[in-house]
Amino acid sequence: MKKILNLLIIAFCLFVLGACGKKDGRRIIRISHNQAQDHPTNIGLLEFEKFIESKLGDKYDVKIFPNELLGSQVNTVELTQTGAIDFTVASNAILESFDDIYQIFNLPYLFDSPEHYHAVMDNAQLINPIFTSTNKSGFEAVAWLDAGTRNFYTVKKGVNNPDDLKGLKIRVQQSASNIRMMELFGGAATPMGFGEVYTALQQGVIDGAENNELALTSNKHGEVAKYYSYDMHQMVPDILIGNLKFLNNLSSEERAVFNEGFRLFSQVQREAWTASVEKAKKQAEEEMHVQFIYPDVALFKEKVLPLHNEVLNANPKLKPIYDKIQEIGKDLKMGGNE
Ligand code: GCU
Repeated sequence: MKKILNLLIIAFCLFVLGACGKKDGRRIIRISHNQAQDHPTNIGLLEFEKFIESKLGDKYDVKIFPNELLGSQVNTVELTQTGAIDFTVASNAILESFDDIYQIFNLPYLFDSPEHYHAVMDNAQLINPIFTSTNKSGFEAVAWLDAGTRNFYTVKKGVNNPDDLKGLKIRVQQSASNIRMMELFGGAATPMGFGEVYTALQQGVIDGAENNELALTSNKHGEVAKYYSYDMHQMVPDILIGNLKFLNNLSSEERAVFNEGFRLFSQVQREAWTASVEKAKKQAEEEMHVQFIYPDVALFKEKVLPLHNEVLNANPKLKPIYDKIQEIGKDLKMGGNE
């Protein structure tokens, strides 16, 4: 019932939006995301808006829809595919069900450190072919955003080792890899959209969830979940995807401006990220009284590492990408030891 209602609301919004698809003869560009207005992603998008309108403002009017206003990420990826909207920010986690190449970045403990994660995502030779390989899915990825490290947080008791997850219902994103990951960890995966998590925690539908620190503060989950355990299981980027037709219809001059805008968005978002995480942690600890736990990460890692071979065997085209990611990690370590 709720789903049908949501779809009707979205259909209505798009009807209204469609009725004013052009304002003063300018083409409206609609961008959706699921974060609050104080989140680095929204801050970055405001810069993108400013930049595009300063260069091409006579032709384009950029409109940002935060807070799942146009629906959860699964809905907004679909809307981007069909061209009902032009862009959405989506977690890499859910992109894998639209194009299986994105399974790669959902592997737990794929990256050794944030430096490794950033070096991989910034490696144009590796990333560009992935970002532009999804033509058949109707979208192209144009920028990646930092979404930190994902960790477990729970309502009733803290997670000190994987055994503590047994029997717990943990919300995961709507992704087969994440459901399998939770199974290997020993918990019960409960997939749902991000916007439903707060109420689910509050009503006891789930015992916990997993995310970066901003979920505690920006999304207020720390009001209910008082234990946050640094098992560091994933570094999953957020990705800005654009409707393929929209991107392909831009002239080469316009595309160059948009590319510069995408680069700026990523840069501003990532610059804001680190400070936001520090602030969130402090606020969660001091104002919300969330307890931060530092368990033995190796115990968690050994539970889910089998997922690497499982996924690579099922989807062999990921193997060269996986190998390159390992190589970048090794080079970084060697560089660091010099
Ligand atoms: C993070 C991420 C979002 C994602 C959310 C989730 O906040 O940045 O893109 O939707 O986690 O767990 O669903």
